[in-house]
Amino acid sequence: MRLVTVRRQFEEGACFPLYLWSDWHKGNANCAKHILTRDRDEIAAEPNAMYATLGDLYDCIAFDDKRYDPAHVDWDFIEPQDMGRLSDVVVADRVAFESPVIDKCLVSLWGNHDGKFSSYHHTDINLRALERMDRADAAARGAALVRIVFTDAHKHACQVVLNLHHGRRIAKYKSTLLNNLLIKLRHWNDVDILARGHCHFTGAASEARVGFDRNFRDLRDKKVYAALTGGYLKTYLEDGSCYAEDFDLDPIDIGMQRFLVYPSRYGATVKAVTE
Ligand SMILES: [Fe+2]
Ligand SMILES: [Fe+2]
Repeated sequence: MRLVTVRRQFEEGACFPLYLWSDWHKGNANCAKHILTRDRDEIAAEPNAMYATLGDLYDCIAFDDKRYDPAHVDWDFIEPQDMGRLSDVVVADRVAFESPVIDKCLVSLWGNHDGKFSSYHHTDINLRALERMDRADAAARGAALVRIVFTDAHKHACQVVLNLHHGRRIAKYKSTLLNNLLIKLRHWNDVDILARGHCHFTGAASEARVGFDRNFRDLRDKKVYAALTGGYLKTYLEDGSCYAEDFDLDPIDIGMQRFLVYPSRYGATVKAVTE
């Protein structure tokens, strides 16, 4: 597990949008590329934005993969003759796509798609893309704990802690996944948001926590969240086919999970943005 500390300056009342972003599945014909680009532009337009990527950014299914189906490949993304250098195409595309926002990236994790590809081909396409963007410091594989420390001009400080992993679970209902994540969150003291991708749902569920101040005089309560970080793989495509259709899966959410973080001298407040 990588432990990452990032620091931000704040003024009382400031808002820091936090985007949890995963499962772009670029390279798949069903990737909702226009929504993905719109979401990237939303991050770019927010001066205080922060984001983490949670893997499966690229589909990474080549000829040698048993899941390979030519009908599932985005042939605008890659030419057939370039399949043998898929990792180069992925790295170049990611650098072109993500460079406008990369200074806002907190951490970037492997998923099972890009991770399997990286392991199988003895490379690390996530690290290679981040190196090209001068952000190798943001690279992580399995899991990451991210501590965002906010400090103001008077040296007041507060923090928000994220527990991130691509995730391994899928379930028919997002409520089932969120309930399981709330239980998992109970193992992690001081974590404000525990988030997982992989399932392609967006959503968040909160639970109350009660603690006390340093002098053991005042009770302090706050909300903690379990979150699912969405995806961009459309379930159905006009006159197309895809994995979800092959397996008669239900339509799924498209997009990313948004939070608003309000640092304050009295502690940070986190709010989930629900659509
Ligand atoms: Fe995925
Ligand atoms: Fe996944």
